[in-house]
Parts: sequence; structure tokens; C-alpha cells
Amino acid sequence: MRIVLGVGGGIAAYKVASLLRLFTEAGHDVTVIPTEAATRFVGVATWEALSGHPVTNSVFDEVHTVNHVRLGHEAELIVVAPATADLLARAATGQANDLLTNTLLMAGGSPVLMAPAMHTEMWQHPATQANVETLRSRGVTVLEPASGRLTGADTGPGRLPEPETIFQAAMALAGASAVPGTEYLTPPDAVPATDPADDPALVSRPSPTRPLAGLTVTISAGGTREPLDPVRFLGNRSSGKQGVALAVAAREAGAKVRLLAAHMEVPAPAGVEVVEVETALELRKAALHAAADSDVVIMAAAVADFRPADVSGTKIKKRDDVADPVISLVRNPDILQELVEVRDAASRNQLIVGFAAETGDSDGEVLEYAEAKLRRKACDLLVVNQVGKDRVFGEDTNSVVILSRTGSEPQEASGSKSDVAAAVIDRVSAELSRVVPPA
Ligand code: CTP
Repeated sequence: MRIVLGVGGGIAAYKVASLLRLFTEAGHDVTVIPTEAATRFVGVATWEALSGHPVTNSVFDEVHTVNHVRLGHEAELIVVAPATADLLARAATGQANDLLTNTLLMAGGSPVLMAPAMHTEMWQHPATQANVETLRSRGVTVLEPASGRLTGADTGPGRLPEPETIFQAAMALAGASAVPGTEYLTPPDAVPATDPADDPALVSRPSPTRPLAGLTVTISAGGTREPLDPVRFLGNRSSGKQGVALAVAAREAGAKVRLLAAHMEVPAPAGVEVVEVETALELRKAALHAAADSDVVIMAAAVADFRPADVSGTKIKKRDDVADPVISLVRNPDILQELVEVRDAASRNQLIVGFAAETGDSDGEVLEYAEAKLRRKACDLLVVNQVGKDRVFGEDTNSVVILSRTGSEPQEASGSKSDVAAAVIDRVSAELSRVVPPA
């Protein structure tokens, strides 16, 4: 397939070299068109060497081939990454002031995918959002940026989605199966032009491949931090990997996914709504709010059970003239238990899933503790894993037992965190289909 890869002028341009490799290794013929600003981050020589084609950003090079017309006409797919705020604005207003924007105007019927990256404020600015809406209404697929650490000290939505995510979304958009035997994600990995959830006529119904279509799933991930003073906190080792894998699995099952992210070490996936939280109390507020319109809530976050009774407004100093401080703790609310209570009080039809991190001397002991926890918290499913040094936290693999309140047989699942996530989401779908059979 002939692909035009437009590169915008943002620091994330360096990640696009990996995206280019994914395209070429899958056998595609890629012409790179960087903007003038992009060449300040990654030079023309890099794009030429990796793509095997001459690279320019001027309409006045190769004039005899009428380059911008030819590239626009020949492209079977156009991918723009990083799509900066400026590039989105120029594309939305139909400007033609360099080779890339000319090519976009000449693209005609070819699918166009744009992967934005910018600071959170720029992404959330009404001007940028209006440009994104305009582009989407014209059929351009604009991915949601991922959330996480940005160029400066700031964090939030605005990160370029991972090259693999953009690659998969591009392949799904082009409907291509470039590598034999490789299955590409199908939309909604590529965020649709209009949000189906906003259009009742478009709300998809559950099907065997998209059992959670039309449903909203809220997932908490990562670990909360409880501040002691402006520089210190009590935290835990949760990386957020399992919660992120669950978010991806739920999204692939067709759900609209909301991720309540507490200090994750991994970036949030594209195509999910992200709410960042710091403490257990913040997570409680976000979870109760999100649960109000969720069909499924999965509490995968490691929530601090206690927080310091007093938070010092200034850094706690060591002093020789006073005794060393003693930290007194107070209990945090149990969010999972509260979610169940609120649901039951409102007689809502909602499936609530808890995770239990347990330590024990033997598997029997772990399960005994877990069964008691399931009774105490009264959630519908409890995903139990054994934790300890080098087990589970931060690792890429996991081994769990899924317990059900209905008392059905415990179900084991193990493998990568994605495998475990797929098993949990399958089980969630199965539990839901017992209540509401798919149409
Ligand atoms: N959880 C919660 N609110 C808390 C603590 C935990 O919602 N304050 C949730 C977690 O997200 C998880 C489940 O409860 O889904 C179990 O967490 P775990 O830490 O294993 O249980 P605890 O209730 O803290 O029990 P323990 O006494 O074993 O620490």
C-alpha cells in the first residue's frame, strides 16, 4: 500500500521513526513529508534513510512531477503524526502553505488518520477541539492522544499514542492485512468520526466479537499516593499495567472505557477517556461520579487503606532539638464496598469487579482470605492474585483466580497481563449476558 506519512513539528516526531519502520517492515511503500518545523526535531536524512525515498517539504522541489498532486492522488492512506495544534488548525481550515497541507487537500477519497500530540492545555483549548470536530465531521480519523508525562514537568492528555497503536489504527482504517496472519485491531481503536455513544441510532449492539458494545466500563488503575508533606507520600508498587490491559481489552470488546488513572508507570491507551487521580479520596470521588452511568466498574487500582492523619504544608525537617516524627494514620474509605452499597441502594443493574492482592503461605490460604474478602466487599467478581516481592507488581505476567459471588467454580487465568485482562473481560461479558442476552 502507498502511504504518505506526514510528520508535524513536535518533540514526538522522534517516535514516528518507529512508526515508519512498522509500516516499511509490513511491506508498505512510505513517502514521508515532514513540516518545516518537524525537520528541526528529526532531520530529512533520517526519513530518507528509513523510507528509501527522497524527502522534501517544499512544493517547489520536483516541480516537473507536480509533486503535491501526485502524492495526494497516489496515496492509499495518509497518516499524520504527531499532529500538532498548528497542523490540525491548518488542515481544518484547508490551508495549503507547504507540501503536507497541499497533499492533504489533494487526498480526495483516501483515508486520513491524524495522531495528535501537544500539551494538555493546547489539546483541551476550544480552538483545537473545534478543529478536531471539523476534521472528524469531514471523515478524518483523529485519534485521542494518550495520557501521561509530557515534554516538560507536566502530565495529562496530549502524548502521542504509541507507534504500535497508531500502526494498528492505520491498518484498521485502511482495512489492510499487510502482514499475512496478522490480525489488526478493528475500530474503535481508531476513534470514529462521531462518538457512537452520542448518537442513539449508531449505538452498536452486543455481538460475539464486540460483547460490550454500547456499554460503559469504568476501570481504576495504578496506585494512589497519600501525601505526608509537599515532597513525600505513602504509596505502593502498583504499575497500572494490569488496569491498562483491562482498558484495552474492554475497548476491543466494544465498550466505551473510562480509565481512572492513579500514578501509572505506563501510558494510558488511545481511545479511552482518562481521569487522573492522586489520592484515595480523589479516586473515591471520581469512581462514584463515573459509576453513576457505568454498566461495569472494575477496581484494579491499589488503593491506600490509610492516609497520614496530618499533611504538613511545608517539608518535614529533621531537627536535633525535637523528637523524630511519628506518622499517625487514619483509614481511607473502602471505595469498592461503597460502590456496591450505592448500586444496591439504587437497585441499579451494574456489574462490579474487585481485585484482591493477597499474600499467603500457600494457595489455599490466599483463596481463604480472598473468599472472605469477596463476602465482605460483596462485589460480583473478585480477581485474586498472590503478591510478594517480585510477584505481580510491575511484572508483565500475572496469574489470577476469578471468584464469583454466585458461588460458581473459581476460574484460573494466567499469562501476560493482556491474557489475564482478556479472561476477565470475557468473564464480565459472560456474567452480563446472563442478565441481558445480546440482541
Ligand atoms: N479497594 C478500595 N478501597 C480501598 C482499598 C481497596 O476500593 N480503600 C479495592 C481495590 O481496588 C481492590 C479491592 O478493594 O479492588 C481489594 O483490595 P485489597 O487491597 O486487596 O483489599 P483491602 O480491602 O485493602 O484488604 P486488606 O485488609 O487485605 O488490605
